[in-house]
Amino acid sequence: MPVRLTKETIDQIQQSIDILEVINDFVSLKKKGHYYSACCPFHNEKTPSFTVTPAKGIYKCFGCGKAGDAVQFVMDHESMTYPEAMVYLAKKYNIEITTGELESGMVPSEVSEKESMWVVLNYARQYYSDLLWNSENGKAIGLSYFKERGFSESTIRTFELGYSSESWDAFTKEAETKGYQREFLVKTGLTIEKENANDSASFKYFDRFRNRVMFPIHSVTGKVVGFGARILTNDKKEAKYLNSPESAVYQKSKLLYGLFQSKNGIRRDDRCYLVEGYTDVISLHQAGVDNVVASSGTSLTEDQIKLIRRYTPNITVLYDGDPAGIRASLRGIDMILEQDMNVSVVLFPNGEDPDSYVRSLGGPEFKRYIEANRQDFITFKTKLALDQAQNDPIQRAEVIRDIVESISKIPDGIKRSVFFKECSQLLQIDEQVLISEYNKKAVQASKQKKNKEEKEGEYPTPTIPLDLPEEEVSVLSLQEKAIENEAFNIIRLLLNHADAYVDTEVTTMGYIIQELREEVQFKNPVYQQIFEELNQAFENGTVPSQQHWIQHPDEKIRQTAIEMLLTKYQVSTIWTTKHNIEVPQESDVLDTIVPKSILRLKRTVIHSMMEELLKELKEVSPSGSIETVEQLMKTYGELKSISIQIEKKLSIEGSINANKIK
Ligand code: CTP
Ligand code: MN
Repeated sequence: MPVRLTKETIDQIQQSIDILEVINDFVSLKKKGHYYSACCPFHNEKTPSFTVTPAKGIYKCFGCGKAGDAVQFVMDHESMTYPEAMVYLAKKYNIEITTGELESGMVPSEVSEKESMWVVLNYARQYYSDLLWNSENGKAIGLSYFKERGFSESTIRTFELGYSSESWDAFTKEAETKGYQREFLVKTGLTIEKENANDSASFKYFDRFRNRVMFPIHSVTGKVVGFGARILTNDKKEAKYLNSPESAVYQKSKLLYGLFQSKNGIRRDDRCYLVEGYTDVISLHQAGVDNVVASSGTSLTEDQIKLIRRYTPNITVLYDGDPAGIRASLRGIDMILEQDMNVSVVLFPNGEDPDSYVRSLGGPEFKRYIEANRQDFITFKTKLALDQAQNDPIQRAEVIRDIVESISKIPDGIKRSVFFKECSQLLQIDEQVLISEYNKKAVQASKQKKNKEEKEGEYPTPTIPLDLPEEEVSVLSLQEKAIENEAFNIIRLLLNHADAYVDTEVTTMGYIIQELREEVQFKNPVYQQIFEELNQAFENGTVPSQQHWIQHPDEKIRQTAIEMLLTKYQVSTIWTTKHNIEVPQESDVLDTIVPKSILRLKRTVIHSMMEELLKELKEVSPSGSIETVEQLMKTYGELKSISIQIEKKLSIEGSINANKIK
């Protein structure tokens, strides 16, 4: 159903937002003084350059340059439109949103396809759950199946399990009666559309899921995006599980079953258990082992690993005892190593899987078993391979290559060398042999990586300070760069302290505007636009808030503003470390900083004009008129004397401030 976002609702959402809470749902933040940091969820990195500054309500990655407020984060991270993100945040903070007809003049994305699919899927979740708890067959067949498996009622509710009836089209019919659109029933795969046999122009519609128990699959944020549906018998004629087809909201390779329910447990234990099936996740949860996700039968993808890495670098893979299965899934693990995660492995006694084993041991004992039997992946793999190779020299050589291959995936050099030592002992081989095999591989790999990067431009280009296109920066003369720096500083002061008083009469904004309005045209279009908007506001007697800039509709202004709001007031550390003197806050010394910054901007502008003049003077040919030369000289002289005056003022304005601003 379309969603209406009124101005009031938007304000209410904005006021409720706590950027730490919002981002912490996706990224594990660590406190670092007045800001928080983490590895950036938007690009690949090993050392954290992603920061959140709660006081300003801003996040910024100093590696890839992504930045914004909480709403922007949700938009970027979840690939949502603005209204989608607002709806998400409203739900998070229990703010009611009016659902109603689309009003004229609203952007079409407000009823985006994804939002409609989520609504339909959420209805389906309710529908199947209602059947499970309240219909005769649901109770007799579905609920009793779950209970036989040992699932408690509260577990069934936590995982929002359900039941689908035998009817061909009961769900589709009911949904349409309730007003859900057929288009989205089909797009989510809940309803199957089929041509009529005798008339290819007409279609029939029936339910995909029939007579099965239903496992809703949630996104990290708890939205239902698809279903897994299990048959109730163990007969082999039909596939045991039927899953939703891929859609705009359900991409198997980017989801992990159980992550929504487990993310807090994973963060708390700083470890994620990885199992295969829906029922393994559920049984473990019920037993209190709530840091577990399932890859749902498929082998683990890179996206899934990155998903886990947001919460912890430690993965323990829980394998059923079957060796064939183990060998098949070993391959996927090299990928986990590549992401610099620590992988360990646990095997279960023959015939047991996590689901059955936790039921026989109970949660605490199960956890102890895991911790006691957990082997590091490389060690585990080496032992397994050695067992197989026995004393066959050719196979042993193969094992060595294979192990080196895995070790070479580990980005951390110190960890690598630990493994070389350990494996050389296991393999009874000189460590140096492993290392030289590794060196050969490393050379190859670095060549390949370089080619790949050249082809794809894999990493986002880092942002250039001042937010200018790269080519523009490189052609700026030194003088122009100096102007650019001073201009940056002026606009920065404006955004940070607009309504703070420079003296008893006038605010930063008033002072700067009066000083510069007539005289300066910023070359950087973004600065100019900000300055013009400030002028406009000044005329109207208003002061734009920091929020105004952070949420500015113009992407470039938004980015620049964030950059400026985060640029710290640079204080010489000598003040604090050597003299132990209390250093003034920038806001306390605006009376000197603001006038001085204006003078410095003017000085650089004048220097650049003088440079221009000198160039022109040189270019005037000997035959050029004497008047031209005289005119140029005169102007030069005037500029020179202004420059001297500025210089004087600057030195009077107090050398105490000399090392306070960058
Ligand atoms: N799976 C699937 N389709 C199948 C079989 C399996 O999608 N035909 C996926 C499901 O996500 C399942 C996982 O692979 O959860 C692991 O398979 P299995 O161990 O057979 O399923 P369990 O969840 O353990 O189910 P049960 O214990 O009820 O047999
Ligand atoms: Mn099972």
